[in-house]
Amino acid sequence: MDQGATEDFQAQAHLYKHIFNYIGSMSLKCAVQLGIPDIIHNHGEPITLSELVSALHIDSTKASCIYRLMRMLVHSGFFATTKVDKDQENEAYVLTPFSKILVKDKINCLSPFVMAMLSPVLMTPWQFLGDWIQGTRERPFESANGKAFWDYMDQDPEFKTLFHDAMESDSQMMNLVVKDCKPVFEGLSSLVDVGGGTGTIARVISEAYPQLKCTVFDLPHVVANLPNSGNLNFVGGDLFLHIPAADAILMKLVLHAFGDEDCIKILKRCREAIPTEGAKGKVIIIDIVINEKKDEHEVTEAKLSFDMLMMVVATGRERTEQDWEKIFLAAGFSDYKITPLFGLRSLIEVYP
Ligand SMILES: C[S@@+](CC[C@H](N)C(=O)[O-])C[C@H]1O[C@@H](n2cnc3c(N)ncnc32)[C@H](O)[C@@H]1O
Repeated sequence: MDQGATEDFQAQAHLYKHIFNYIGSMSLKCAVQLGIPDIIHNHGEPITLSELVSALHIDSTKASCIYRLMRMLVHSGFFATTKVDKDQENEAYVLTPFSKILVKDKINCLSPFVMAMLSPVLMTPWQFLGDWIQGTRERPFESANGKAFWDYMDQDPEFKTLFHDAMESDSQMMNLVVKDCKPVFEGLSSLVDVGGGTGTIARVISEAYPQLKCTVFDLPHVVANLPNSGNLNFVGGDLFLHIPAADAILMKLVLHAFGDEDCIKILKRCREAIPTEGAKGKVIIIDIVINEKKDEHEVTEAKLSFDMLMMVVATGRERTEQDWEKIFLAAGFSDYKITPLFGLRSLIEVYP
């Protein structure tokens, strides 16, 4: 075969892999929906195909579908196989680090994130991205769901629960690093978690730092009926209008959902809420910082995927350090410090 043909066939394989990337995602969603990580975990030892099919309580005619689903997910690294029995002939499935974080009774379980991000509400808008860019349709999320993201949430209680469960599962991961963040919270007596959702991260922080008075501030319908307890309380409101005063404002995965102009407005509200004289306050941002030069290929790929997601479902974007600096300075802040925190996200302390 001449070199041109080889190159074209390699290009075809690359193209098809990318066309079908969604099949990897949807196969993973199927495994989570069926509870396969939990079944393997609860089994306590490698599980054979027939044991898995029997634990799934599905018709035996579907056994070959499970075999094919597992073959796909072994290939993508979510499960692995190991030889069992005396003759080492039969194979059985085991969890890998990638599926251990999908087991429901573990403190860090990201299954809700899988179910929400791959729900039709978030998948259908992609069909409209090209039309919106060409100017023939409204924004992708609105084209698919009839309303902007935060307004839509109020009319679809099922999706609202799915989304907040996803955010809670993502925030729960903070317990892995909260103790390492001592210098960040030291000296603070109050903190407002703006866009804090149902309060998962504020709860983790309030438990780790009992001297800190933590307030979760989010849209009224998000915090309605959430009970105050100890050093944690909930306040409803609109972050564009007024943010309750505190020594520090925390925002995790909030600014990435908004464009630069909106972020500058929000950051100005934050600056009004913290002390700017004497013992100065700060804004603590937990969000993505794109760093294509420094990050591994897979980390950058995930960060760029979040960036595209923000374009399609909201009005936001992921930012490089230079992008962040621009909006901090425009909002009147003078300095900032970035600490890589967990995997994809960094912690940015912004000073008046
Ligand atoms: C992506 S979620 C992040 C939730 C939480 N910080 C976390 O990381 O788990 C963004 C949050 O911002 C809140 N939000 C959006 N617009 C808001 C507004 N205008 N005022 C107050 N909160 C808002 C949403 O309700 C949502 O809980």
